[in-house]
Amino acid sequence: MKVTVVGAGNVGATCADVLASREIANEIILLDIKDGFAEGKALDIWQSAPINLYDSRTIGSTNDYTMTKDSDVVVITSGLPRKPGMSRDDLIATNAGIVKTVTENVIKYSPNAIIVVVSNPLDVMTYCAYLNAKTDSKKVFGMAGVLDTARYRAFLATELNVSPKDIQAVLMGGHGDTMVPLPRYTTVAGIPVTELIAEDKLNEIIERTKFGGGEIVKLLGTSAWYAPGAAAAQMVEAIVRDQKRIFPVCAWLTGEYGLKDIYLGVPVVLGKNGIERIIELDLNDAEKALLSESAEAVKGVMEVLDNMNATA
Ligand code: NAI
Ligand code: 2OP
Repeated sequence: MKVTVVGAGNVGATCADVLASREIANEIILLDIKDGFAEGKALDIWQSAPINLYDSRTIGSTNDYTMTKDSDVVVITSGLPRKPGMSRDDLIATNAGIVKTVTENVIKYSPNAIIVVVSNPLDVMTYCAYLNAKTDSKKVFGMAGVLDTARYRAFLATELNVSPKDIQAVLMGGHGDTMVPLPRYTTVAGIPVTELIAEDKLNEIIERTKFGGGEIVKLLGTSAWYAPGAAAAQMVEAIVRDQKRIFPVCAWLTGEYGLKDIYLGVPVVLGKNGIERIIELDLNDAEKALLSESAEAVKGVMEVLDNMNATA
C-alpha cells in the first residue's frame, strides 16, 4: 500500500510517523512545498525504524508529485494552521488556494486515490478538494470527528478515572464551535454515560470539547498535531486494511439527515472503498436542531468558497 501525506508540518509529519511506526502502509511519501523540508522529516522518521523496529519506508519530496504516483490514499494537511485569535474560517482564502492546487496534482498522478482532508476550515476544505478532484464523493472526505470525539473521550476518561479505551462516543456536525457531541450515544463499556456522570459536569465536558482546538491554540500558540496526526492515520488504517470501522467523518450528504449538497460530520463505515455507507441515527428533536444549526454554519462558509470561485 502506498500513502501520500501532503504537508510535512506538524500534523503531516506526525501522521506519516504513525503510518510508518504502525506499518499501516509500506511506502509513505511525505510532500511539502518548502525546499528540503519533507525530505528532512522523512529521513528523520526513517531513521527511527531501526529503533522502533518497523520496515515501512518514508520518503520525502519537495513538490514533486511524480513521486506520489499511484498512491492508494492521500492525506492533505497542507495549509496554514490557526494562530491565536484566528478563527478556522479566517483561513479560508489561503488554504482554499493551496488545497485546490494540491488536489489537482494528487488526482493527476493518482486518479483512483482516496483523499482524506485535514486542512482547515475542515468542512469547507473537504468541499474544495471534492470540487477539484472531480471524483466520487465516497472517496473524498475529511478528518475532524475522530479528533473531536477523541478529545471528548479523553476528557470523560479523566473525569471518570477510567481507560479512554472503554469510552465510545458519537459526535456530529461541523468541525467548529457548533459541533454536536451526543451524550445519548456516549457509553462507558456499554454503560450510558448519563448513569455515571452528573448532567452539569457532562455539559461542561461537552463545552470543553467544542472549544478543544482553541484550548490547545491558546496553550501552544499554534494548533494541535499529535492527536490530529494520529486521528488521520487511524482513518487511513481503516481504509487500507478494509476494517469497516465506524467513525464520525466529514462526508458529502445527499439527503441523509434531511441535508444535501453539504460536507458535514456524520457516522460512517470506512473501508477499502472509502465511505462504504453513512449511518443515519434516529436523532431526537433537540439533537436535530443542533445538527441543523451546525449545518447552517458550515453552509455559510461553503457559500464563501462558492462566491470566491464565482468571482475568480
Ligand atoms: P504546519 O504549518 O505545521 O504545516 C503545514 C505545512 O503545509 C507546511 O509545512 C507548509 O510548508 C505546507 N504547505 C503549504 N502550502 C503547501 C503546498 N501548496 N503544497 C504542499 N505543502 C504546502 O501546520 P499544521 O499544524 O501541520 O496544520 C496543517 C493544517 O491542518 C492546518 O490547516 C490546520 O488548521 C489543520 N488542522 C486540522 C485539524 C482537523 O481536525 N481537521 C486538526 C489540526 C490541524
Ligand atoms: C483543532 O481542532 C485547529 O482544527 C484544529 O485542533
